[in-house]
Amino acid sequence: MKGVILAGGLGTRLHPLTKITNKHLLPIYDKPMVYYPIRTLVEAGITDITLVTGGNYAGDFLRLLGRGKDFGLTHINYVYQEGEGGIAEALGLCEYYIDEEPVCVILGDNILEKSIVHAVNAYQAQGNGAKIILKEVEDPHRFGVAELEGDKVVRIIEKPQNPKTNLAVIGVYMYDHRVYDIIKTLSPSNRNELEITDVNNRYIEWGEMTYEIYDGWWTDAGTFDSLFRANRLVYNKAAAEKRLL
Ligand code: DAU
Repeated sequence: MKGVILAGGLGTRLHPLTKITNKHLLPIYDKPMVYYPIRTLVEAGITDITLVTGGNYAGDFLRLLGRGKDFGLTHINYVYQEGEGGIAEALGLCEYYIDEEPVCVILGDNILEKSIVHAVNAYQAQGNGAKIILKEVEDPHRFGVAELEGDKVVRIIEKPQNPKTNLAVIGVYMYDHRVYDIIKTLSPSNRNELEITDVNNRYIEWGEMTYEIYDGWWTDAGTFDSLFRANRLVYNKAAAEKRLL
C-alpha cells in the first residue's frame, strides 16, 4: 500500500501565521506539523510516500524532509499543486506515483494519538473499495459528518449546519485505484473545490465503503483553536511519556 500526504492549500484561515510559510511547516510542540502525518504512515508500515504541496514555500519541504532520512525512508515523491482546488484534486495529481496500487491518504494537518495500523490491515484484508475512520467530536459541523444505518455508512455530509450525528470523518482515507476515475468525474463544490466527501459518497453508493471508529484522540490544526489544541494534546502526550521514563 502506498501513502499520500496532502500539504497543499494556502492556509488562509491561519493568517498572518501562514503569510510567510506553509501551514504544515508550523510547529506542533517540538516538530513541524508535517512530521506527524508522515510518522503516522510510516508507523503503519507505509513507506512509499508522495507529498503534495503548493504555494510559495514548496521548496522548504524539500529542504526540511529531503529523502525522508528522519523517518528511515530512502525517498519521498513530491507533487506540486497549483492553487487550492481541493483535497480530491490534490489526490488526483498523485495518480502517476500510485498507479494501480491501493493508497492511504492522510491530510497534512491531521494529528493522531495512536497508530492506524489496525485500519490499514483491515483495509488490506478487504482487498478493494474504500475505508474511512470516524471519531466522535463536539463540533461536527466543522467536518465531513457520517450517517450510519446498522453497520453501514449511508451518507457523508460535508460541514452540515445541522449534523445528524457527531461522527466526524477524520482525514485518513483508503482507496483502490478506481479513486482516480471517480476524481475525473467530480465537479467543484460551492467552495470551488473537488471534495473528498464526494469521492467517499461514490464508494458508499457502490456499497464498497467500510469504516472503523478511532479510539485515540485526533485533531486537525487548520484554525487557531485547533492548532492550539493540537499543540496541547501533543505536549501532554510527550509529558506523560517522559513521566513514564
Ligand atoms: O480534518 C478532517 C476534515 O478535512 C474532513 O472531516 C472533511 O470532510 C474534509 O473536507 C477536510 O475538511 P477541511 O475543510 O478542514 O479541509 P482543509 O481545506 O483544511 O484541508 C485539509 C488539508 O488538505 C490541508 O491541511 C492541506 C490539504 N489540501 C487542502 C486543499 C483545499 C490540499 O493539499 N490541497 C487543497 O487544495
